[in-house]
Amino acid sequence: MENLIKQTATAKLSLDGKNIDLPVYSGSLGAPAIDVRGLYKTSGHFTFDPGYTSTCSTESQITFIDGGKGQLLYRGYPIEQLAEKSTFLEVSYLLIHGELPNKKQNTEFTNTITQHTMLHDQIESFFHGFRRDAHPMAMMCGTVGALSGFYHDDTHTTVDDARNVAMHRLIAKIPTIAARAYKYSIGQPHVFPDNSLNYAENFLNMCFSVPAAPYHVSPTISRAMDKIFILHADHEQNASTSTVRLAGSSGANPYACIAAGIACLWGPSHGGANEACLNMLREIGSVDRIPEFIARAKDKNDPFRLMGFGHRVYKNFDPRSRVMQKVAHEVLDELGIRNPVLDVAKELEKIALEDEYFIEKKLYPNVDFYSGIVLSALGFPTSMFTVLFALARTVGWISQWNEMLEDPSQRIGRPRQLYTGPTQRDFVPMEER
Ligand code: CMC
Repeated sequence: MENLIKQTATAKLSLDGKNIDLPVYSGSLGAPAIDVRGLYKTSGHFTFDPGYTSTCSTESQITFIDGGKGQLLYRGYPIEQLAEKSTFLEVSYLLIHGELPNKKQNTEFTNTITQHTMLHDQIESFFHGFRRDAHPMAMMCGTVGALSGFYHDDTHTTVDDARNVAMHRLIAKIPTIAARAYKYSIGQPHVFPDNSLNYAENFLNMCFSVPAAPYHVSPTISRAMDKIFILHADHEQNASTSTVRLAGSSGANPYACIAAGIACLWGPSHGGANEACLNMLREIGSVDRIPEFIARAKDKNDPFRLMGFGHRVYKNFDPRSRVMQKVAHEVLDELGIRNPVLDVAKELEKIALEDEYFIEKKLYPNVDFYSGIVLSALGFPTSMFTVLFALARTVGWISQWNEMLEDPSQRIGRPRQLYTGPTQRDFVPMEER
């Protein structure tokens, strides 16, 4: 990756009687950034930004979000166009390589991914080590981390070929691991990958087919699954992606880095929100109970939040939520499902969008608001929702990891702190405490 940031201005900081010049950089889109890298050296001060609300951790050329406009671009292409016209593997190529593949590149990439779909047979023992009721995210995190024990050669992260093989293996094996975790949790025999199927069909087949009966994946359903993967594929420097970059910044094994991303994604403020959102919609149960939950969300003394609402970056509609709402209708129509939870979701969205509290705080539906309804209609239990998110996000994580390792300005990530603990004191022997 070539560094493309340009200095466009200089910021002036006056501190302790000293005037300090700080370069201001601009990218191709988005807010400019003040370079504070030299600040500690010149002034002896750190910057303070817990939660990174005003801090760029890196330069990146992969994904752009304009939270005010509700815009999401992968390598410049709007998410709505990619969801409508592209496929997940094409988007994967785009995220990794920066350009959409031509026909030949697409065929080669698809063939390469297809060659890596099987798991090493000994991975099977890892699944058997889990309790039957283990959360599939626990199995996913453990098993993906365990791949580092099988492919330690990929630790040579400075070698292009080794990085490419690691990226291909991860994209190919993650659906097999996700489906295996699901089958294990419901006590069904696992289904091997079928390389004659496309990426989404193969995943659905591994999840829902059984040896005792034929299984046919409807094109509408596999297309919906593929769109869901595209919508979740990348989201610039979110918590799990930053985790992967931080883990990878030390040169760690890529499979271990992705396992770190999976762990971070699991939390209900991040990838776990779709599970929490569907649980919430089911708990609300009927349209007449919505005001009670809206009141709870607004009550400062109640920790309850409207799940699927609000976002650190989007202060407008999350563009993914609009696509997801459309996918929800397509899937429910295809399957002939009349789901009262969808009525609750639509009414809740309407009421919240008209409510002063949500308007003032710019809280809009995010991608997770409708995704739970779709995934549940596809037949997935709530415990699998975050697993599907992790499956799709794996390509974003590895693209960002790869970009970081190619960045000439890359250094190990090492934040500083504002220490407020005890100052130095002498050890007190036990009998004197
Ligand atoms: N319901 C009610 N109030 C909310 C909500 C919500 N869902 N989200 C934020 N607020 C309020 C919050 O109480 C705070 O109020 P005040 O300023 O009076 O203290 C204000 O809005 C700002 O919230 P914040 O927590 O400072 O914002 P944040 O940027 O740190 O958090 C968030 C972003 C996504 C964690 C948060 O909006 C949230 O918890 N939402 C529900 C969980 C969710 O849907 N997460 C999925 C995110 S999209 C998928 C992904 O990227 O992983």
